[in-house]
Amino acid sequence: MKNLEIKYLGLTLNNPIVVGSSGLTAHIEQLVELEKAGAGAVVLKSIFEEQIAGEAYAMRYYTDSPDAADYLGQYTQMHRLDEHLRLIRQAKARCSMPIIASLNCVSAGQWTAFAQKMEEAGADALELNVFLLPLDRDSNTEAIEQAYFDTVASVCRTVSIPVSVKIGSNFTNIPHIIQELYFRGARGVVLFNRFFEPDIDVENMQMTAAPAFSDPSELRRVLRWLAIASCRVDTLDYAATTGIHSGPDAVKALLAGARTVQICSAVYQQGNGVIAQLKEYLCRWMTEHTFDRVEDLVGRMNYGRVIDPLAYERTQFMRHFAEREE
Ligand SMILES: Cc1cc2nc3c(=O)[nH]c(=O)nc-3n(C[C@H](O)[C@H](O)[C@H](O)COP(=O)(O)O)c2cc1C
Repeated sequence: MKNLEIKYLGLTLNNPIVVGSSGLTAHIEQLVELEKAGAGAVVLKSIFEEQIAGEAYAMRYYTDSPDAADYLGQYTQMHRLDEHLRLIRQAKARCSMPIIASLNCVSAGQWTAFAQKMEEAGADALELNVFLLPLDRDSNTEAIEQAYFDTVASVCRTVSIPVSVKIGSNFTNIPHIIQELYFRGARGVVLFNRFFEPDIDVENMQMTAAPAFSDPSELRRVLRWLAIASCRVDTLDYAATTGIHSGPDAVKALLAGARTVQICSAVYQQGNGVIAQLKEYLCRWMTEHTFDRVEDLVGRMNYGRVIDPLAYERTQFMRHFAEREE
């Protein structure tokens, strides 16, 4: 029997397969089913700062009275938050796996108090889903990065549960960003969030949405940066998200440096049974490669431990094409 137990953000998970934040983790009955299906932990559907603020703001139009507008705005905000807190409390009452709450932040503000309420409701950890879309050509990189750091610092000051930060891949220097997040109090990072992407329908000249679900090929970018960052900044825990659809994908992410792998598209497309499939493959792979504990394979092929680290540095295809032409 293989030992799949893993420490992540100071929590003990009975296995590294985590169901990522999404509609799959938005209702209590789904959480109970995911635990039955063998998930090591879940990240709850994010509560969105912008959405709450937007809904609260929209309520102002239902009245001419400023006092009533304020009241309605605050009521809407508290109602949305209460629903989320109820989910955390229910999850803690009915599941024994760790429950990671998720907060989508676009600014460091008053609302960071939401994080405190999530902690009080019993969340074991908090994942911050932060993404700022730079639209102002006069904002420089430093100012934008500082906004990320301020947001994370203000949440980490507010709560005492561990905080991880789920980031996108569009930073100039990913290890630097991760190190700075660690200095602000983050205990983990989740690489990389996969965002909604707009597309264009050329027939009708209309905006459409790109597919919501990932493709396994999207894992490669995650692997490179997991391997490099987990070696360069080894003071916090790494989780992988985007493109993990099969057992081999999960093993790759763990070898590159992830302590947990988050799955989302795979569960939407293949059902909860995919969790058992991933775990079965992991156990089989560990037997074939003589690992008894999953802890021992984490990072075994990261940038610092792989025989050919240049493989992670290579970015150009020059040699590949030169060889093909010979
Ligand atoms: C329908 C849907 C809803 C999602 N909602 C959230 C969310 O609320 N918060 C969040 O951090 N990520 C959200 N995500 C992103 C997923 O957690 C995950 O990072 C992404 O889908 C990549 O993982 P995958 O390749 O396993 O799908 C959502 C993804 C999907 C497909």
